[in-house]
Amino acid sequence: MKQINITGFADAPVNEPERQLYFIAECKKIVSQMKVDKGRELYADIKTFGCQMNARDSEKITGILEEIGYTVVEDDEENADFVIYNTCTVRENANLKVYGRLGHLKKSKKNNPDKIIALCGCMMQETHVVEKIRTSYRFVDIIFGTHNIFKLAELIYLRLHSKSMIVDIWKDTNLIVEDLPSERKFKFKAGVNIMFGCNNFCSYCIVPYVRGRERSRKAEDIINEIKALAADGVVEIMLLGQNVNSYGKNLDEPISFAKLLTMVEEVEGIERIRFMTSHPKDLSDELIETMKNSKKICPHLHLPVQSGSSRLLADMNRKYTKEHYLGLVDKIKEAIPGISLTTDIIVGYPGETKEDFEETLDVVRKVEYSSAYTFIYSKRTGTVAASREDQIPEDVVKTRFDKLLEVVGEVSKAQAEKYTGQTVDVLVEDLDSQDETLVTGRMANNMLVHFPGCKDLIGTIVDVKLNECKGFYFLGEMV
Ligand code: SAH
Ligand code: SF4
Ligand code: F3S
Repeated sequence: MKQINITGFADAPVNEPERQLYFIAECKKIVSQMKVDKGRELYADIKTFGCQMNARDSEKITGILEEIGYTVVEDDEENADFVIYNTCTVRENANLKVYGRLGHLKKSKKNNPDKIIALCGCMMQETHVVEKIRTSYRFVDIIFGTHNIFKLAELIYLRLHSKSMIVDIWKDTNLIVEDLPSERKFKFKAGVNIMFGCNNFCSYCIVPYVRGRERSRKAEDIINEIKALAADGVVEIMLLGQNVNSYGKNLDEPISFAKLLTMVEEVEGIERIRFMTSHPKDLSDELIETMKNSKKICPHLHLPVQSGSSRLLADMNRKYTKEHYLGLVDKIKEAIPGISLTTDIIVGYPGETKEDFEETLDVVRKVEYSSAYTFIYSKRTGTVAASREDQIPEDVVKTRFDKLLEVVGEVSKAQAEKYTGQTVDVLVEDLDSQDETLVTGRMANNMLVHFPGCKDLIGTIVDVKLNECKGFYFLGEMV
């Protein structure tokens, strides 16, 4: 890579966000010179591998790269001047995808030696991953983790001054840097982080190790961000955290998640409020009451159960039983009739017996989920469950997984069909990808509906009659 000669670290402010604003300005000068030298724009491609929080981080990365002067493109890793993978490591297959794609990137760097390749996100918080990249993927330029995304401009600046790979991984942090540039994928809806990290240490899960300890943003900062989004035309907000129900407990002035929701409800212009994820152990009566009385909180709750077996739930360190979960569901359904419930389920957790699995099917049938994300247990190095001897054979897991899919399919189809013939409010999200005379929108309960319409409707909320249920989505018409 070409070295650029600049002095400047000594002038950098110490405090954030001023320090990063300084590096953004410095990088902007360099990128602008590179554009002159090349006689063209510089392009950046950002790949998101993980969950909604990972996607939100990618928006922050996009914001910084655009501010520096890159033009962000989609799906052009081959030609882009800056490629960044925002990785996920929740299951092994997320990991494998990254290694596979990196092999291809190596070739494209040969054609463009100035190309910068950066890796960040959850996978980079694992020591063995970083070691492997250092030794086997030496063409990578920058590696950073989940705690220092805000430093991207500084790391790019460093790379442009150094001959070697820049690796900056923090083990954990208390720092939450506000007021840096950030882009949004959609004009009309936005994810807003309310907290970072997780303290729960479910036995199978790597998230607490790669995202650090739980820390909440100040309610005031969250509300100011949402006000600015509303002023910018956003009508739907998704509040994001690994366990939103424990929001605010560790703030200097503690505040409950339900209280935060009440504050968000008051922001003019916001018409729909969603949130994820709720941990059943912390879901309070106050939250149920707030949802019940709210005009804006969508009648949808994602409440991961993981397993229906109380024995396995104890082993998983989930801190609730099957009975507690079902009791909670009854209470929610009674308070908010017609609410749509969705969940996450793991099949093949170590020691799972046929009886344990039957309990899971029983929960699916009793709760009548609108949909469920189903996962095959994946062994994650460093977690408590990974050291268990009684891992379940692949063929057994596969049979159970297929059975679960079948039962979830039946249950959710029956749930969806109940809406046929109803007229509901729909936020129009996009043109239909198959048929441009149709638009696609989302009902308050999170289900999709396709109906005749044009692109001017995107971002508006309209009344749609649900004519035909197609399983996971509806065909309808505006009324
Ligand atoms: N914080 C959220 C979930 C985050 S991870 C919660 O507690 O609900 C998203 C989902 O991935 C989890 O709900 C779980 O179902 C699944 N998952 C996590 N670790 C896994 C593993 N090792 N193998 C398979 N699925 C896993
Ligand atoms: Fe993982 Fe459990 Fe934390 Fe969710 S609550 S992120 S499943 S440890
Ligand atoms: Fe999300 Fe994957 Fe990290 S699910 S928190 S991006 S490990």
